[in-house]
Amino acid sequence: MSDDQAEEAGLRVAIIGSGPSGFYAAGQLISALGDEVEVDMYDRLPTPFGLVRAGVAPDHPKIKSVTRVYEKVAASPGFRFFGNVEFGTHIERHELESHYNAVIYAVGTPSDRSAGVGGEELEGSWAASDFVGWYNGHPDYEHLEFDLSCERAVVVGNGNVAIDIARMLVLPREEMAVTDIADHALEVLATSKVKEIVILGRRGPGQAAFTNPELRELGELSEADVTVAPDGLDLSDDVLAEDASMTAAKNVEILRDYAARGPRGHAKRIVLRFLASPTSINGSERVESVTIARNELVLGDDGKPRAQITDELETLDAGLIFSAIGYRGKPLQGVPFDEQSGLIPNQAGRVHHEGDVLPGHYVVGWIKRGPSGVIGTNKKDAQETVDHLIADYRAGLLPEPTAPHEGGSEAFVLERRPEHVSYDEWLHIDEAEKGLGEPHGRPRIKLTRVHEMLEAIEAKRKE
Ligand SMILES: Cc1cc2nc3c(=O)[nH]c(=O)nc-3n(C[C@H](O)[C@H](O)[C@H](O)COP(=O)(O)OP(=O)(O)OC[C@H]3O[C@@H](n4cnc5c(N)ncnc54)[C@H](O)[C@@H]3O)c2cc1C
Ligand SMILES: NC(=O)c1ccc[n+]([C@@H]2O[C@H](COP(=O)([O-])OP(=O)(O)OC[C@H]3O[C@@H](n4cnc5c(N)ncnc54)[C@H](OP(=O)(O)O)[C@@H]3O)[C@@H](O)[C@H]2O)c1
Repeated sequence: MSDDQAEEAGLRVAIIGSGPSGFYAAGQLISALGDEVEVDMYDRLPTPFGLVRAGVAPDHPKIKSVTRVYEKVAASPGFRFFGNVEFGTHIERHELESHYNAVIYAVGTPSDRSAGVGGEELEGSWAASDFVGWYNGHPDYEHLEFDLSCERAVVVGNGNVAIDIARMLVLPREEMAVTDIADHALEVLATSKVKEIVILGRRGPGQAAFTNPELRELGELSEADVTVAPDGLDLSDDVLAEDASMTAAKNVEILRDYAARGPRGHAKRIVLRFLASPTSINGSERVESVTIARNELVLGDDGKPRAQITDELETLDAGLIFSAIGYRGKPLQGVPFDEQSGLIPNQAGRVHHEGDVLPGHYVVGWIKRGPSGVIGTNKKDAQETVDHLIADYRAGLLPEPTAPHEGGSEAFVLERRPEHVSYDEWLHIDEAEKGLGEPHGRPRIKLTRVHEMLEAIEAKRKE
């Protein structure tokens, strides 16, 4: 296909997933190609924005204001949103190939990595995604019941998600009550009996994945002390590798300050422990204790320090354990998936199948590069993919839609999923949520069930 032919035909792109990576890709396509491109964005939820709505902690509202950028993209001519449409359930790959020149997968990595520790199946042992999805009102998790009647909880992992979980467990009611935390979670967390949260890092303070502002925030909590368990821990700069980042060096400095602090008299406390891994979660029906091994650092084959378990064990009473050791992708029906990495195999955003490029299929965000990086990281990541997509388009390498629907995208989706939610209909949900929150001084009260969201749309239609 020559350039002229391409322009005549136009470019139709489906983006699966409306999180940051999907929105950055959509914005970049539209700003590069203008009305030459039509972008249809699908999401399995009626609500857009992925983890900005369902992952970012409720007490971090400024971070969520990034959605203003996505709102501008959504207002562009040539952009359509089809929420409440799940790839693999309501639409399949071959159907998208019949209607679009290209598909970009932006589905994120919604599952959890498992550490494979015995006892993970016990009541009271949770994956980070369960707790985070629950307090953020994600419809998949709203039915979960968290029993917070114990005094000690253990959080495994040394990333920012572990910090979010610990912080949410100690925030006082009045600080939560002004956020968009799910109502069901507000009540349960406000009456929590948990007094101590132990965060376990399998490696040392110099290897923690925390970022500085998040680690620092732990030291500024209004109702919880933060401390570092001494355990003979070295907190000098010697624990930093020669090529340690500024972030790691600063983390060690912050941890030194925490270790030196005396208790500030708060009723709750967060204890950071390093070189410690759970080896079993114990209890008859629910979690009663966690056995922890002391680790030492050894140099791995890649020259990086890795944790090696020693036979020094200790058992800690705890009624809750949260595994916050990273997320993992889920396979999409009919789309290549690499079981080992849990990602869609790709080279710089072009999907690969058995080593060859799968023409017309692209990937962005966490499902492309793995579950790490902040919201902004997805912008550069999406640009790489979009540059390749546009290059392929210009080079005539994109397949023609095999049987485009005569009635256009709306008719195409209406046939597959009559209950789809348009962007304007999402705005009705948004308005309803803000309206519920306003009298309580909250940014919104989230609707957490899909049927409630659809009812809000219906109510608006009847107005
Ligand atoms: C708990 C948590 C807190 C975080 N907090 C911050 C923070 O404070 N600041 C920060 O900068 N970064 C934060 N991050 C990181 C940030 O959220 C990610 O970098 C970013 O969301 C990844 O974007 P994504 O588009 O790849 O995936 P996601 O945001 O996960 O979006 C994926 C979208 O795809 C949709 N989808 C999935 N499967 C299908 C399907 N089959 N069909 C249709 N749609 C589908 C999902 O519903 C979702 O909307 C946090 C991450 C987590 C896990
Ligand atoms: N406020 C914010 O900006 C914010 C909030 C939340 C999330 N995020 C971002 O979202 C991304 C994901 O965060 P995350 O916390 O899920 O992941 P992460 O940053 O990759 O941290 C995962 C942690 O789990 C540990 N881990 C992995 N496997 C383990 C095992 N088997 N046993 C014990 N520990 C294990 C890792 O240790 P090793 O290093 O030893 O592997 C690491 O400390 C990050 O980029 C994060 O910055 C940002």
